Amino acid sequence: MTNHKGLALVDLDDDGVDRAFRRDVLEGLRQDQKAIPARWFYDERGSQLFEQITQLEEYYPTRSETEILEALGDRFAELIGRGRAVVEFGSGSSVKTPLLLNAIDPAAYVPLDISGDFLRQSAAELSGKFPGLPVYPVEADFMREVTLPDEVEEHPKLGFFPGSTIGNMIARTAVDLLRSMRATLGHHTHGGALLLIGMDLVKDESTLEAAYDDAEGVTAQFNLNLVERINRELGGTIPVDKLRHEARWDDLHSRIEMHLMASEDIAFEVSGESFEMQQGETIHTENSHKFTRRSANILLLAGGWTPVECWTDSGENFSLILARAENPRNAP
Ligand code: TRP
Repeated sequence: MTNHKGLALVDLDDDGVDRAFRRDVLEGLRQDQKAIPARWFYDERGSQLFEQITQLEEYYPTRSETEILEALGDRFAELIGRGRAVVEFGSGSSVKTPLLLNAIDPAAYVPLDISGDFLRQSAAELSGKFPGLPVYPVEADFMREVTLPDEVEEHPKLGFFPGSTIGNMIARTAVDLLRSMRATLGHHTHGGALLLIGMDLVKDESTLEAAYDDAEGVTAQFNLNLVERINRELGGTIPVDKLRHEARWDDLHSRIEMHLMASEDIAFEVSGESFEMQQGETIHTENSHKFTRRSANILLLAGGWTPVECWTDSGENFSLILARAENPRNAP
């Protein structure tokens, strides 16, 4: 797989094993607190399961954010202005992206995603819905600065990062990403760069835990799919039936943590390497940080973005924040 500049994004060994996947899993399992980076959730089955999660009764973020996007009015269009190139970090959702594009009058749409297949599919769908809109999909890892297509160079940019994905990163990584976004979107361009970002809000623990541990067990399946993928792709022997999905609130970090907990002592191999887990020991698989208005603002400011306005849904569950790229200046 290559990006628009012909650079390889996935590095496979002779057996067709994704080297980065194997490295992340082995390094993660060797740690005292076992942990695997969440990006590996999203194989085909994982992406399907996540789609199901977004439709669960308990999973309020998608509904709340969609409600906000549906209600965006003239004030929003005024703040954004016309003729921006919308740069979406991620392939785009068939529901949220059209709501945004309808609310403003964009000059172009540029979805960025590391997975070329999802990218091309969703870009084609979107082109169908907006026949006059130029669409330039770019296959790239947006955690780093991305060179945008020449065709959108002249347009001021609006970055779009819905879904509270920023909340899946620890603060340090989130700040790195916000800074990369600023570089990608060109803070110095005419009109300045804007960012529209979804951030989930702190609320009572039971609501949060239910959103990440639903009654139907879809989130549990999603979490367990990661070990099924390891077993399949990395020659793993992890006993999936001895691992339990767990979602717990960590107040210090203001986040829901997702773990897989061993229900008894287990031993297994991955890529020929042996591992053990004691009963009760966990593999940490995901974080979902929750924000207050103030903590959201601090994170954005740390990444070089000044909040302009914040919208919430009627239940005050979720926030959508518009921020502008701050010009570096000396200040006390
Ligand atoms: N960005 C989503 C969130 O934090 C991702 C997510 C939702 C997720 N449910 C999950 C990730 C369950 C792992 C497991 O809300």
